[in-house]
Amino acid sequence: MNLSERDRAVNWHPYTQMKTADDIIPIVRGKGIYLFDDEGKQYIDAVSSWWVTLHGHAHPYIAKRVSEQLHTLEQVIFAGFTHEPAIQLSENLLKILPENQKKIFYSDNGSTAVEVALKMCIQYAYNQKHKKTKVLAFKNAYHGDTFGAMSVSGRSAWTNPFGEMLFEVIFIDVPTAENLDDLKIFIKSISSEIACFIYEPIIQGAAGMLMHRAEDLSELMKFCREQKILMIQDEVFTGFGRTGKLFAADHLSEQPDIMCFSKGLTGGTMPMGITSCSQEIFEAFLSDDQYKTLFHGHSFTANPLACTAALASLELLLNNETLAI
Ligand SMILES: Cc1ncc(COP(=O)(O)O)c(C=O)c1O
Repeated sequence: MNLSERDRAVNWHPYTQMKTADDIIPIVRGKGIYLFDDEGKQYIDAVSSWWVTLHGHAHPYIAKRVSEQLHTLEQVIFAGFTHEPAIQLSENLLKILPENQKKIFYSDNGSTAVEVALKMCIQYAYNQKHKKTKVLAFKNAYHGDTFGAMSVSGRSAWTNPFGEMLFEVIFIDVPTAENLDDLKIFIKSISSEIACFIYEPIIQGAAGMLMHRAEDLSELMKFCREQKILMIQDEVFTGFGRTGKLFAADHLSEQPDIMCFSKGLTGGTMPMGITSCSQEIFEAFLSDDQYKTLFHGHSFTANPLACTAALASLELLLNNETLAI
């Protein structure tokens, strides 16, 4: 059996109708923008392996740094323990994120970064005994495939089988110069019930690269701030150079309460998710009451190898050594 046949015998691929799917292409190595199959055929990775690869495949500097870390410390539980790569990465990121972002919470993919953000907002209200459980999101949004992330994503064939089980979300149009006044009137009428507003800033990637203007989003954010609606800026796709600036946040005049990152975070080398937040969010969880703790974590939270890959990738980005593609 060749690789493709062996694969079909044992693997179930994402977003793939396995009955009708074409032969799956076996990739044996990558170099720069190219992927090579088992017969030596070369492919340009124009989708950057689902928008994760920033510096090309098998980047020698990232490989060297991860390899050194692999021989030093490959993993340690992140509850009760910490390590230099996680501390350094958080320090480096907080220097370049909007200045109100003060704490970093690690997880392991874009969907979990979103789950954590939603839990932070909903528990922020719960810890303060406010009754706010509804979420505001954009029509056509995509925030991931776990249940919370699916709930805040636009309803589609992907979410239909789970429709009844998704929590209530109020979907609004993306802002434009024409609809901003109407959006504000609507949001004001429901603001007391809204725990948070989650949005993909400037570009809705999975929806088909739908764009909205930074000025209009900034105006909407300013209004949400006035209405005391927490804002989650999902930069899983836009982060790390995809919009021409380091973050979509760098196009905006307002700052979100919470931000989500993954994909380009490690340069596409290893899975990792990050949810950053403001001091105000963090402090709502500080208490002598243990039940106000954010009870969320994953076995591989802040994996030292992934943190090291992210440190190396960030270094390359900040030194302008690779243009994001
Ligand atoms: C904006 C946005 N958020 C979240 C996700 C989910 O990320 P992941 O595929 O790592 O779960 C994606 C994935 O495309 C995305 O584009």
